[in-house]
Amino acid sequence: MQVFNTIADLQATLKGLRAKGDKIAFVPTMGGLHQGHLSLVEQANQHADNVIVSIFVNPTQFGENEDFEQYPNTLKEDLKQLEALQVAGVFIPDAQQMYPDGFSTNIKAGHLAEGLCGEKRPGHFDGVVQVVHRLFEIISPDIAIFGQKDYQQLLVIKQMVNEYSLPINIISADIVREADGLAMSTRNQYLSAKERTEAANLYRILVQLKQDVLSNKAIDSAILNAKQSLAKHFKVDYLSVLDANTLSATSDNTTQIAILCAVFLGSTRLIDNIIFYPKQNT
Ligand code: PAJ
Repeated sequence: MQVFNTIADLQATLKGLRAKGDKIAFVPTMGGLHQGHLSLVEQANQHADNVIVSIFVNPTQFGENEDFEQYPNTLKEDLKQLEALQVAGVFIPDAQQMYPDGFSTNIKAGHLAEGLCGEKRPGHFDGVVQVVHRLFEIISPDIAIFGQKDYQQLLVIKQMVNEYSLPINIISADIVREADGLAMSTRNQYLSAKERTEAANLYRILVQLKQDVLSNKAIDSAILNAKQSLAKHFKVDYLSVLDANTLSATSDNTTQIAILCAVFLGSTRLIDNIIFYPKQNT
């Protein structure tokens, strides 16, 4: 496994791989790797000859009062885990590589970034799209894997790839959860032991809401119930039930439903979602 700190070194190696006709799959991350990230790498391995992983805590996607400064750095362990999965290369640029002084070419997130996390974290998805677009241009992967854990991010990236006609196949990976249902997240490291136990209520309540939606309960009162249950454990940032493809209200044309949620537990922000098929009325 090679570690690259500069774009030039990475691109020189990629050129050699491409000359052999190798396919390249790319997994962007911010490090602090856990089994969720590793499942993306495993999936990438199945789709391509070589997997490139990036580790870059992108400053432009963090808001002013967010956790950029204390974002977990577990680089040594990250590299060990990636090595074990036979990753071809890890790209670890510094901010100067990604955004050289005077860097000004920029693109913005599309309309799918407007609600939910986009509304609660203004500018967040512009930062995500900026860094992912830049990484895509540097690496030109055939395939890139994103987790369903960040469902809105996945849709925003797909929208960018479509609208810019980038020849990259975006693959979505299922959410990897702890035994008690909590979606794995680098930010779970921030939770105290007591909060960690409490955190399992998030998924439990979302599963209950899914069951309520499927049993044709009035959706507004089901959401209200779920919000009340969540409020016993968390400060609710948002909870929405939407069309999973458009992130707008569900309609007769809805083929998949998304329950999307963000909560605060102390100062830690947790997000989770469930995507499912509506009940068929036969
Ligand atoms: P990060 O939070 O490190 O996540 C990297 C990738 O891992 C994302 O595609 C995310 O959805 C996926 N992931 C995280 N937890 C997961 C879980 N429990 N199960 C499955 N997949 C999971 O998302 C980012 O970084 C950044 O925004 C990035 C795309 C790298 C741009 O900076």
